[in-house]
Amino acid sequence: MILLTIFVCIVFVLGFVVFRGAPYVPSMKKYAAQSLDELYHVTKKDVLIDVGSGDGVILRLAAERGARAIGYELNPILVLMSKLLSRGNPLVETKLADFWLTALPAETTVVYAFSVGRDMKKLANKMQQTATRAQHPIWLITYGHSIPKLKPNKSTNSHYLYLFEPKQ
Ligand SMILES: C[S@@+](CC[C@H](N)C(=O)[O-])C[C@H]1O[C@@H](n2cnc3c(N)ncnc32)[C@H](O)[C@@H]1O
Repeated sequence: MILLTIFVCIVFVLGFVVFRGAPYVPSMKKYAAQSLDELYHVTKKDVLIDVGSGDGVILRLAAERGARAIGYELNPILVLMSKLLSRGNPLVETKLADFWLTALPAETTVVYAFSVGRDMKKLANKMQQTATRAQHPIWLITYGHSIPKLKPNKSTNSHYLYLFEPKQ
């Protein structure tokens, strides 16, 4: 009975996430690392946000490069995994939160998003609002999908880099 309850809870959480963003599929570590080195060069000056941080793989890659890394994740099981896998790393923080409902920190310099195609425009709007509120430029790395009608500053086969400048 307990196992059945746990199973139903997991299915419910996974099903709910689909309405709020991408389901859990981890980035390929090799290509994600390349995007943090070659597409946008992450350093200790950065505060990287992963919107939908999964098991925290991107957060740990960013922290390895000296950046502070904050992840927002809807699935409590993945938040727990991320916290376990990143334990003892003072640069990594994982929060149980819906990132659409969360104001990103003003010190954010770069956002990583492995999202679904239908959310790309909404994501671009959120990035523009964040840059304008923070009054400094913010970079966005997307994986898998580009933003319609917006030319990336750089791209590889699977990652795209965009710059959002603050508006007055
Ligand atoms: C495609 S996975 C990417 C995981 C990780 N960023 C990576 O690149 O390996 C997308 C993740 O976003 C989470 N997610 C979807 N919608 C979300 C939302 N609105 N707020 C926070 N997390 C969300 C999912 O639970 C899933 O773990």
